[in-house]
Amino acid sequence: MILRKLLTALCLTAVPAIAQVTKPHPPPVDRSTPWMNASLSPDARADLVLKQLTLDEKIQLVHGIGWGPLREGDPVPADNNGGAGQVLGIPRLGIPSIQQADSAVGVRMSAPQSRYSTLLPSVLGATASWDPDAAHLYGDVIGRELRAQGYNQSIGGGVDLARDPRNGRLFEYPGEDPVLAGTTVGHVIMGVQQNHIMGDIKHYAMNDQETARTTLDAQIDHKAARESDLLAFEIGIRLGHPASVMCAYNKVNGDWACENDWLLNHVLKGNWNYPGFVVSDWEATHTTVKAAKAGLDMQMPGQEFFGAPLKQAIQSGEVPPARLDDMVHRILRSLFASGAVDNPPSPRKVIDPFRGRDDAQHIAEESIVLLKNENSVLPLSPSLKTIAVIGAHADVGVMSGGGSAQVDAPGGNAIAPDRPTRWNEPIYFPSSPLRFLREHLPNASIQFNDGKDPASAAAAAKSAEVAIVFADQYMSEGSDHPTLALPNNQDALIEAVAKANPRTVVVLITGNPVSMPWVASVPAIMEAWYPGIGGGQAIANLLTGAVNPSGKLPITFAKSEADLPHPKVFGIEYAKLREHDPKQFFEVPYKEGARFGYKWFDSEKKQPLFPFGHGLSYTTYTYSGLTADASARTATFTVKNTGKVAGTEVAELYIQLPSASGENFRRLVAWQRVPLNPGESKEITLTVDPLFVSVFNTASDNWQILPGEYTVSAGSSSRDLPLTTKVTAQ
Ligand code: BGC
Repeated sequence: MILRKLLTALCLTAVPAIAQVTKPHPPPVDRSTPWMNASLSPDARADLVLKQLTLDEKIQLVHGIGWGPLREGDPVPADNNGGAGQVLGIPRLGIPSIQQADSAVGVRMSAPQSRYSTLLPSVLGATASWDPDAAHLYGDVIGRELRAQGYNQSIGGGVDLARDPRNGRLFEYPGEDPVLAGTTVGHVIMGVQQNHIMGDIKHYAMNDQETARTTLDAQIDHKAARESDLLAFEIGIRLGHPASVMCAYNKVNGDWACENDWLLNHVLKGNWNYPGFVVSDWEATHTTVKAAKAGLDMQMPGQEFFGAPLKQAIQSGEVPPARLDDMVHRILRSLFASGAVDNPPSPRKVIDPFRGRDDAQHIAEESIVLLKNENSVLPLSPSLKTIAVIGAHADVGVMSGGGSAQVDAPGGNAIAPDRPTRWNEPIYFPSSPLRFLREHLPNASIQFNDGKDPASAAAAAKSAEVAIVFADQYMSEGSDHPTLALPNNQDALIEAVAKANPRTVVVLITGNPVSMPWVASVPAIMEAWYPGIGGGQAIANLLTGAVNPSGKLPITFAKSEADLPHPKVFGIEYAKLREHDPKQFFEVPYKEGARFGYKWFDSEKKQPLFPFGHGLSYTTYTYSGLTADASARTATFTVKNTGKVAGTEVAELYIQLPSASGENFRRLVAWQRVPLNPGESKEITLTVDPLFVSVFNTASDNWQILPGEYTVSAGSSSRDLPLTTKVTAQ
């Protein structure tokens, strides 16, 4: 897969994609047919269409057209839109082609047709806002830009949990907590789908590392899975109602995720009653009969298993015709439910890049986390005369994440605009923190040093009142980072600068949490994630105090790998060997079950570098007066801004279950962003969803609320919970 994608990407840069195709006008859609009656339910409309379809047409709807424009030599249908996937429509019945585009952090595949899309902050970053409205806006940007570009399906919506903080795709995912992650992705999907675009949630399930993702078999017991990774999917699906669920590359408990009866038929379609369709990850389909019977509804991107072989299996009776009808019904139902049939995305228009940038900047400003701020080094004082800005191409732009989430940078890679971009190379977007710092602080002389030579950077830092070191870390689909350390000698750079100037601020532009051997030597640290196209301005706004930081960590920062449930990424030493070789299968035993992230650190009594939920502000808050009702369904407390500037505090609520649960950790159960003026206090009441305090009972195959004592705690992070009360539920 990796090699194929590499070749694909190389082709992409070499071939002007679908430019040569002359497109006929599509036939006008006859809207007088019974299934075009929008007052009927999506299910009724799907059934009406199903009755009209021939066997060949049904088969056509359950697989893609191949790699299309992404691979030289593959056929490209006349109506192809240039995305990662296409399923041919049925024009005679007014059923459009499904045009799928990767869109984890913005729409990918816009550049081949010289269009442009907004690069949003990473999903992990946006999750740090703890703001469902920001997540909704995130999805809306993606949905409206997909629509403007002629796509009708997003294949984003990643929600694999951060079991391993070195996972190469963490920037595409919403962190380590199932409730925060599921809630965030659910709101992203809502935002996408409000644009009549089919949404997606992926990669179902346990695709929690990239190393050997096609040859690993994730081993996890059902209870732990339901209370962790699958809970994130359950919440995301319940909130967002995505049109599709993308099954993953890996195996789960011995079966491929895309032919896993327990995952697809039992949990997803059975327990959750999911009405949409299951689409395979790209080349993650391995069989015809087993996959069809286990619940896969659509093979992507081609038809090796769900083309002629499926037709034959239907004709021979190996796959019941009713199962094919069910696949097609689900796909048609999603097309109708999303509005993709009634409100097709045409004619194309140029997206609004200004609105997109403003939205991206707004989300970034809520996402950036102030990790440390001693001696009020931040915000930068307007009276500063000299500042050294060092490293990470901060003079030009900000880094973005790679792989199928890579959005095309306007003007090309900002650090090499004249060279065509390649798959898996760090791409910078033209949003320079240096430029915006200069705009904010016109009285200061702000000099840039590229940070390549720590000695020269230290000299620059020494001659300035404040030094700001930018450090970045490139992450991409297909591989993990072997350690938590910053790459490219940046730890040594920071040490050298901190030694030269005690007023050193570190700004991290990273896909993942990183270790910080220099943490005690610098007074201020800001985590900006991959901040997107508005990143430079957002960072400058936060550094100068034009915006007060309000983000909180959606993931634990560990001091070192030794503190993680698994000190090494599974199989990393054999990663290349194991790629795609079926003989190289190996088991990944998730023995920690649902106890990872802060739950691991808390129950193991380990001290993190920065805990889950942590984030500072330029003001201070106090918490008081916690009460909870007898069953811990609501909790009320007061938050007060005790500082001198306005701010927004993310107030967090955790509950520890009765001892019968066997859980020796708290669970995050609710939170709220609380805007407060200086001196202002607000009483807030948070509602706890019963699901978030349930345990999964495998014997009854259902959720259960345990009677007993619930410990309810409120505060500003998973490790700063000044308020606690206990209630006993019957
Ligand atoms: C990724 C998916 C992506 C697909 C299509 C796969 O390699 O895992 O997330 O949607 O490619 O590009």
